[in-house]
Amino acid sequence: MSNNTCGLESREALIEEIRRLKKEKGAVVLAHYYTDGDVQDLADIIGDSLALAQKAAKLGPEVRTVVMCGVHFMGETVKVLCPEKTVLMPDLSAGCSLADSCPAEDFKAFIEAHPGYTVISYVNTSLGVKALSDVLVTSGNARKVVNSFPKDEKIIFGPDRNLGAYLNSELGRDMLLWDGACHVHERFSAEGIRALKADHPDAPVLVHPECKRPVVLLADKVGSTAALLDFARTSEARKFIVATESGILHEMRKACPEKEFIAAPPSTGEGGEGAPGCGCNDCAYMKLNTLKALRDCLRDGRPEIKVDPELAKGALRSIDRMLALS
Ligand code: 13P
Ligand code: SF4
Repeated sequence: MSNNTCGLESREALIEEIRRLKKEKGAVVLAHYYTDGDVQDLADIIGDSLALAQKAAKLGPEVRTVVMCGVHFMGETVKVLCPEKTVLMPDLSAGCSLADSCPAEDFKAFIEAHPGYTVISYVNTSLGVKALSDVLVTSGNARKVVNSFPKDEKIIFGPDRNLGAYLNSELGRDMLLWDGACHVHERFSAEGIRALKADHPDAPVLVHPECKRPVVLLADKVGSTAALLDFARTSEARKFIVATESGILHEMRKACPEKEFIAAPPSTGEGGEGAPGCGCNDCAYMKLNTLKALRDCLRDGRPEIKVDPELAKGALRSIDRMLALS
């Protein structure tokens, strides 16, 4: 939930204006579960990376403008899937540390050094990396996509070393991993979660697979944001310890008002070397999608996502292949 004032403008006034502008412009607003709770509540579609891509791909021709409240690679994916639509983002500088950990030219050299390998990449990547990949995955469909390849297939998996290691151990694979990571998920402290668990022994631990191995080993459920939400909805438990970005707590609390959700603690002073952010569970990039930025974006029709047509063509191939396998 935002503060009651956003600069000089009240939260309520901004919400009202956003509702009016959405109608006036016929814009569809998509939001990821990590955005601010108010932004999620204003969205027409909320979801994990997979659902957002799937739903964007199904938007009809009557929708001319889409506003993606998320991070840059999500906006790019929507633009690649809907090239005829105007795709806006409240703040184009909403990047992703995981995508940044895999520059396309370095990844290309890595692939060239390993001929004969199939390349599977997580969607948290630039269009350049997507265009170099045979198929993409999200945390929601990674098992299914990887399992669609024979057990002896030689596979490069990029860029998340944690998701890759999790898949290797779960699926009995030996994929070659790119050494990238998300600064938010790498921060969670296994020691801190163990301490919380001692105080709340009945609370299942919900973990996103971008977390490090010691944290994943404490999990009762490992999954995408949507899978963790689903687990919370259907579980008999009354309390949960949640090791992923804080934005998901909004939807969890909304969906299960009678249940308690406890944010897993980040390691103090261990944001990961040089990691941007606050040392909390927030993705600073996701939080750039403020109410004011969303209002300005709807009002002014910018900033708009533009993609290089050649890269978009290459990326579409790997995105489409993923959607067909999902
Ligand atoms: P999901 O695919 O689970 O929505 O996660 C996206 C993401 O950016 C995780 O950090
Ligand atoms: Fe990227 Fe991590 Fe933020 Fe997800 S939480 S968008 S992986 S920086």
